Amino acid sequence: MKYAFPDNFWWGSASSALQTEGAREGETTWDYWFAREPNRFHNGVGPQHTSTFYQHWKTDIQLLKQLNHNSFRTSISWARLIPDGIGEVNPEAVDFYNQVIDELNEQGITPFMTLFHFDMPMAMQEIGGWENRDVVEAYARYAQICFELFGDRVLHWFTFNEPIVPVEGGYLYDFHYPNVVDFRRAATVAYHTVLAHAKAVQAYRAGHYAGEIGIVLNLTPSYPRSQNPADVKAAHIADLMFNRSFLDPVLRGEYPADLVALLKAYDQLPACRPEDSALIAEGKIDLLGVNYYQPRRVKCRDSAVNPQAPFMPEWFFDSYEMPGRKMNPYRGWEIYEPGIYDILVNLRDNYGNPRCFISENGMGVENEQRFIENGQINDQYRIEFISEHLTWLHKGISEGCNCLGYHMWTFIDNWSWCNAYKNRYGFIQLDLKTQQRTIKKSGEWFAATALNNSFEKE
Ligand code: BG6
Repeated sequence: MKYAFPDNFWWGSASSALQTEGAREGETTWDYWFAREPNRFHNGVGPQHTSTFYQHWKTDIQLLKQLNHNSFRTSISWARLIPDGIGEVNPEAVDFYNQVIDELNEQGITPFMTLFHFDMPMAMQEIGGWENRDVVEAYARYAQICFELFGDRVLHWFTFNEPIVPVEGGYLYDFHYPNVVDFRRAATVAYHTVLAHAKAVQAYRAGHYAGEIGIVLNLTPSYPRSQNPADVKAAHIADLMFNRSFLDPVLRGEYPADLVALLKAYDQLPACRPEDSALIAEGKIDLLGVNYYQPRRVKCRDSAVNPQAPFMPEWFFDSYEMPGRKMNPYRGWEIYEPGIYDILVNLRDNYGNPRCFISENGMGVENEQRFIENGQINDQYRIEFISEHLTWLHKGISEGCNCLGYHMWTFIDNWSWCNAYKNRYGFIQLDLKTQQRTIKKSGEWFAATALNNSFEKE
């Protein structure tokens, strides 16, 4: 069967500044943490060992062209542009981003730009990071500077990438700096991120720029183990905490009342100011990026909560390992292709069918060298992964979902936070020693699909 996509469908991939650029000025929390706890990073490989986009941006953009991308998302590094977060703009960073943006446009590849992809300038973290409202103001200024500098040529902006991840990693589950475990502080960080987002949207609207502004959320559909009311309630609460805590403010302009009531009941609400609600209402977006990797399966708890334990989302559910689930064993994530369709249907039916696109989807695999045939990685599993997801995406579009494109994570194998280079995601293989780039089979498959705006599958 032939799966054809609408005209002008966005075909491309996503990456981020910190994971690709290297050669960075301006310290981030990642540099600081790595210097102190290198053992937290796979094989002790830190954020300075990224895929050298800062040097190779021009030839890398040629490779994007070879992959027939018509669009590409990366991020601006706040710490590169404004090393102390709040002061002088670094002219070399302006030159660098100008060159990248201009080259992308010249090559017919529409740049999509994220303003914050997990990379907090250390100077901002030192004053409390997202727990401090001064950082919200500093971010709003940084966003405004980016719009002024690049807004004439970047027409698709994203305030944040996966804003729930720094909340989970930094303040609940100990996989990002500052390694705090404290729900109330996590809720404050999440809340201030929403305020920062809304302030950036406000600034963008006030500047009457030519393009559009949105956010990228990692939506993990919550599936209950059964239709038993206790399981359904568990899935509902997981959905409130991990999806709707950002989805509702950015699409509806307000938080779900039952999320607020739940946090209030457990005395976990962040400090709010009366003027915040009006600001949040102004943060409604034009375009939603959806990152989809895995579903979340939950069941009700089997045991009582230890009242002495720190308050956690897991007070309300246990994760559920569905027998027979398909796994990506390298990343430990379930692969469930219909999830992409369920997300789109939920957006269509419950959120007014917003303009959206799949901004990340991907499969990290370890030791891909074992698949080399005639000098090229033959990653059939990735082609299978993409085409299966695309059939579900296609079904969503044919049923009226407003999905405008599909971006893969990622372009060239890049540095994956604490996993460093353990799992490879790229269309293009990176030789860490020589920095040589070689297109994988999946890259060729994707290039053909993008060119034809369609693919064939049994
Ligand atoms: C997303 C992020 O969570 O998934 C990326 O936007 C990240 O920055 C990607 O690299 C893959 O996850 P990981 O943890 O395997 O790198």
